[in-house]
Amino acid sequence: MSKQWWKEAVIYQIYPRSFKDSNGDGIGDIQGIISKLDYLKELGIDVIWLSPVYQSPNDDNGYDISDYRGIMDEFGTMTDWDQLLQEMHQRGIKLIMDLVVNHSSDEHAWFVESRKSKDNPYRDYYIWREGKDGQEPNNWESCFSGSAWQYDEHTEEYFLHLFSKKQPDLNWENPKLREEIYDMMKFWLDKGIDGFRMDVINFISKVDGLPDAELPEGRKYAPGGDYYMNGPKIHDYLQEMHEKALSGYDVMTVGEMPGVDVEEAKLYTGQDRKEVNMVFQFEHVDLDSGPGGKWDLRPMKMTDLRNSFTKWQKGLEHEGWNSLYLNNHDQPRMVSRFGDDREYRMESAKMLATFLHTLKGTPYIYQGEELGMTNVRFNSINDYKDIEILNMYREKVIENGEEHDKIMESIHVKGRDNARTPIQWDDSEHGGFTTGTPWIQVNPNYKEINAKQAMGDPDSIFHYYKKLIELRKENPIMVYGSYDLIMPDHPEIYAYVREYEGQKMIVMLNFSVGTPVFELPEELEDGRKELFISNYEADSSQDIKQVELRPYEARVYLVK
Ligand code: NOJ
Repeated sequence: MSKQWWKEAVIYQIYPRSFKDSNGDGIGDIQGIISKLDYLKELGIDVIWLSPVYQSPNDDNGYDISDYRGIMDEFGTMTDWDQLLQEMHQRGIKLIMDLVVNHSSDEHAWFVESRKSKDNPYRDYYIWREGKDGQEPNNWESCFSGSAWQYDEHTEEYFLHLFSKKQPDLNWENPKLREEIYDMMKFWLDKGIDGFRMDVINFISKVDGLPDAELPEGRKYAPGGDYYMNGPKIHDYLQEMHEKALSGYDVMTVGEMPGVDVEEAKLYTGQDRKEVNMVFQFEHVDLDSGPGGKWDLRPMKMTDLRNSFTKWQKGLEHEGWNSLYLNNHDQPRMVSRFGDDREYRMESAKMLATFLHTLKGTPYIYQGEELGMTNVRFNSINDYKDIEILNMYREKVIENGEEHDKIMESIHVKGRDNARTPIQWDDSEHGGFTTGTPWIQVNPNYKEINAKQAMGDPDSIFHYYKKLIELRKENPIMVYGSYDLIMPDHPEIYAYVREYEGQKMIVMLNFSVGTPVFELPEELEDGRKELFISNYEADSSQDIKQVELRPYEARVYLVK
């Protein structure tokens, strides 16, 4: 397996709207990010993935782009952006930009033209169809509730939008559209960026004829994923994108890919295939969803998590590469979901961090994760801002009469706004995020959980992340070592061994509040064991044949 800088890197995701406001308008901005680069340098990360900062009417917080080459006014100007890149590079931090090209905004100049007439030169940049028997062209459901089609009176046709009505899907069948995208990518690459995170990039090729999907009982619209995820031409498009836009630049790419499995991921990330370097797969973040989808709550079980991660670790062992994440701007906070955000917040956040950084793959830290930020529970639906939440609430509660309390519980557990409350910088008003009124309320726990407190406390989650990142730089076993389970059936302990160039690393993680006993398998008994990192005080000379683990304890040993 080849060595690559992006395999060794630790990536930090910034969701700019919620990171740091510099001008008091309540919205995070580019100057705010610049003011925190030293903080990120101190943490030790190598790369920043910046969620979209392009011109956008903000129907979906920047994931609806109206000008791919312009900066959103609330965030600053292109001069600010140029300064950001320069200041990052000065500090040795790389920048990857979000590439959102499954859809644009309906306010993009291409769509404004496209909807004007059926023979407009831009008509075919989007996916227009006639209705079927006075209904939508097919029964697909939008990822943000309701039909995936919107009727446009002006030309009496429907356009496809897999997300909101203000996010029409681009027509990748059209070679002219594809060339425009590649040109736009080169515009940013020539500015010196270090790569792209590609938004729902495995949705860009739709099955010919856009057939109806199977309708689940009692539902008006059907999840159409089988007809647009990993579609028939997806590999051709990605190879073409590589050839026409990416080749010739030393950059990294990560494709966000809902519905991708291991076999498909090998094709996307196989080194010789020249598609993308790694994918964000969704298997582990779907484990706590029932048959009704994301809002249909199920408990998250460690044993399912272990099966899933093990499948991916082993599946991409020799071919391809894994990305490692436990949360991002679309997912609940990881400590609330996989750990315990009350009594054992510190311990479980550190245990999960140990997990993330000792697996094989490239770790992604989502802003605030290094502080152990938690989910939020707003009492009123009016305090929520996310279009996915608001559309779902309207459909389920207002239109279909489902129980308000039950839906609020789903929002508290799974809503995307959990991850989007502002970063808690200190214990001053609004957590030091803004001097104005924040666009979304700060989590009320900011007095206790904030960066100022964490930086001043050598035992904080922040300092633990810093240490893990340092260790990863010094120990290639953390990046390149193989992965094999220990005690594969234990109900509470998730343990594994990594091996690389004659070294071994033993990782013990207690995913419970209990005190289960780790038992070292005989074949690992030989060799001197050195405590590498742990989230509790531990005696490094302790014999580890049997170890009683404390609640959410993580211990890693190096065997020499
Ligand atoms: C995935 C992004 O991460 C999410 O935030 C967005 O709403 C959808 N794609 C649509 O762009």
